[in-house]
Amino acid sequence: MAEVSFANDIAPLFKQFQGQMIWRFDLTAYGDVVANHKEIYDRIRNKGMPPPPFPPLTDEQIAMFTDWISQNFPP
Ligand code: HEM
Repeated sequence: MAEVSFANDIAPLFKQFQGQMIWRFDLTAYGDVVANHKEIYDRIRNKGMPPPPFPPLTDEQIAMFTDWISQNFPP
């Protein structure tokens, strides 16, 4: 499993969507993403988020998020 960190991998991936989700949580804030990781995972896996016309996250990007969860959320 690749080593994943929030600062190097997760925040840069989510930064482009930050503005559209800030009403609910900050996708670039470590605490918000940890606290909502189940909902975030469900939505990216079932390709509900990001919504059209944004392309869904790739399988590699989704795997990166699950690796980060498995590694117990490295900051
Ligand atoms: C990877 C990027 C994104 C993630 C992980 C994400 C995650 C989520 C999650 C977990 C919810 C459910 C919130 C809840 O149940 O309280 C949600 C809802 C929502 N998101 Fe996002 N979001 C992303 C990108 C976006 C973008 C780019 C937009 C707009 C262009 C957007 C618009 C919305 C809207 C309107 C809702 C409420 C309606 C619904 O639940 O479908 N999101 N998102």
